[in-house]
Amino acid sequence: MKRMLTGLQPTGVITLGNYIGAIKQMVKYQDEYESFLFVADLHAITVPNSNINLKENTRSLIALYLACGIDPKKNTIFVQSQNEYHANLSWILECNTYFGELSRMHQFKEKSKGKENFTAGLFTYPVLMASDIIIYDADYVPVGIDQKQHVEIARDIAIRFNKKYGDTFIIPEPIISETGTKIMDLIDPTKKMSKSSENQNGVIRLLDEPETIRKKIMRATTDSEMLVKFDEENKPGISNLINIYSSFTGKTVSEVEEQFKDSNYGTFKKAVADVVVSELEKIQIKYNEYINGTEIDQILKEGREKTRMYAKAKYDAVKRKIGFYE
Ligand code: AMP
Ligand code: TRP
Repeated sequence: MKRMLTGLQPTGVITLGNYIGAIKQMVKYQDEYESFLFVADLHAITVPNSNINLKENTRSLIALYLACGIDPKKNTIFVQSQNEYHANLSWILECNTYFGELSRMHQFKEKSKGKENFTAGLFTYPVLMASDIIIYDADYVPVGIDQKQHVEIARDIAIRFNKKYGDTFIIPEPIISETGTKIMDLIDPTKKMSKSSENQNGVIRLLDEPETIRKKIMRATTDSEMLVKFDEENKPGISNLINIYSSFTGKTVSEVEEQFKDSNYGTFKKAVADVVVSELEKIQIKYNEYINGTEIDQILKEGREKTRMYAKAKYDAVKRKIGFYE
């Protein structure tokens, strides 16, 4: 079975866009691949973020993924900072990575732009990410399009190391979830629904109160035509609601159009709100069970033990290849 691995930053907020665009895909992949899922908390400290509560966010993120259907029996779930081999290997990989190639990373350029003080960790971030991936011989890495360049540099580093020291790492491939449905902002449906959006009325968060979710959908921007028809160019708001409805019900776009061909926008929006609220309510109930229970602690303990064993074996192999004193 091919191995898949992905990391999630513990930033706290998960949107309906993340759920439809990424989490649902991962729930599907867990039956096809041997899956590794971890909280990238070491990456979270590369930028100043004084109000981030790492412990709580880590637990909350894991509870939410489990509530969304990530099965702890099918996934190895762990916390990056609980496995020291990632950072150990990262140092060795840094010595096989060029300053020039790291300087060309889009994320680094964007996050350091105009700033006098940014950390060395922000610069070497992609190398730690490469280490996360190749220490487990991951074949596939599902990420958003913004992280594609980082998976590509992980490939380059792995190929370079293999050439210099002999075959050691599997060369990973990115799986870009952007091919799935892109969920747009409810207020400005020409832009992507994003956790960092200024107007939070356009963004549904998975842990929003059901009443808030309902209100946000009922107030979503539409158009003056009064026709439930998919046309992203001229009717971005309605098209976005059709996408949301379709992904929650499993119906195709034309089935949705047919179902609401005689409905006004109020009726359609109410139907969208009903399906979203009903599914998210179930998720929230499970979330609360996980957050208040002890299962997460057990899952993370097992994940930590298993991944430390795997990672140590690879790290030791790397040290032998380089010829360090044993
Ligand atoms: P981000 O929240 O941008 O770090 O993205 C995390 C994952 O969620 C990536 O796989 C994205 O492609 C996906 N994602 C984020 N926002 C959306 C959206 N509005 N529609 C669909 N997928 C999204
Ligand atoms: N950098 C990724 C992000 O911000 C998170 C991440 C860290 C990751 N290590 C990884 C993703 C390894 C995939 C594989 O989304």
